[in-house]
Amino acid sequence: MSIDPYLVLVYVHILLFVYWLGGDLGVFFSAKYVADRKLSMDERFRFLHLLMNCDMGPRTALILLLPVGLEMARIIGVFEVSPAIGGIVWLLSLIWVAANWWMHLNERHPIIPKLRAIDQNLRYVLIPVIAGTAIYSIATGGPVLMPWLQVKLLVYAFAISLGLYLRGEIKQWIVGFGMIRQGGDAADKGNTIIEESLVRSQRAALLLWFAVALAAFLGKVKPF
Ligand code: HEM
Repeated sequence: MSIDPYLVLVYVHILLFVYWLGGDLGVFFSAKYVADRKLSMDERFRFLHLLMNCDMGPRTALILLLPVGLEMARIIGVFEVSPAIGGIVWLLSLIWVAANWWMHLNERHPIIPKLRAIDQNLRYVLIPVIAGTAIYSIATGGPVLMPWLQVKLLVYAFAISLGLYLRGEIKQWIVGFGMIRQGGDAADKGNTIIEESLVRSQRAALLLWFAVALAAFLGKVKPF
């Protein structure tokens, strides 16, 4: 038996893609019930819990697709990057994904708001770095050598941006649930905030789906 390590990376890359799209499907359908004012609060929170669990697929995939994809790109010679930088990206990504799982499993820990802020700021740094690398490569021909990968990196940066936008919408949900707890007119307003946010979130989620599917198309078909 002989196993090509490169093909193992491709396999992991595909698996991460599957969990991203599959997990998003779960998030999309649970969200509808979280926002449903006809359901009891208990039921809505149960769906919120399901939503957060499903969301770990896309969260994990978003982070790990980068080191795995970078390693693949390095091996097939379409991204000129030193093994040292590849190693640093691996190390940081593994710490980042572990931190995300830790936050998911320890939601009530007092350090969570601080970690969430770091996680969010990291994304704000990553988007211009990835998009900048892609645009620089389109302009000068490197370090990303192939146009399909240059565009794919732009799409990936766009997907991270959409994720950040969706986080902003989730903050609206927290505000809405706070108002529902107050009862009366405030509860009505809270439900409206959540419902309006759901419409915007679902539009963004569909766009995100399209972006992820497009990134996969570019990686598989390599049209240019
Ligand atoms: C939204 C994020 C991404 C998705 C959904 C995605 C998905 C995919 C899929 C499905 C393939 C086809 C695998 C096959 O050959 O069967 C692929 C190929 C590839 N991806 Fe990604 N990818 C993403 C991000 C990245 C990133 C960030 C990089 C690099 C930094 C990358 C590098 C590559 C490379 C080099 C290939 C070509 C593999 C080959 O031809 O053997 N991907 N991608």
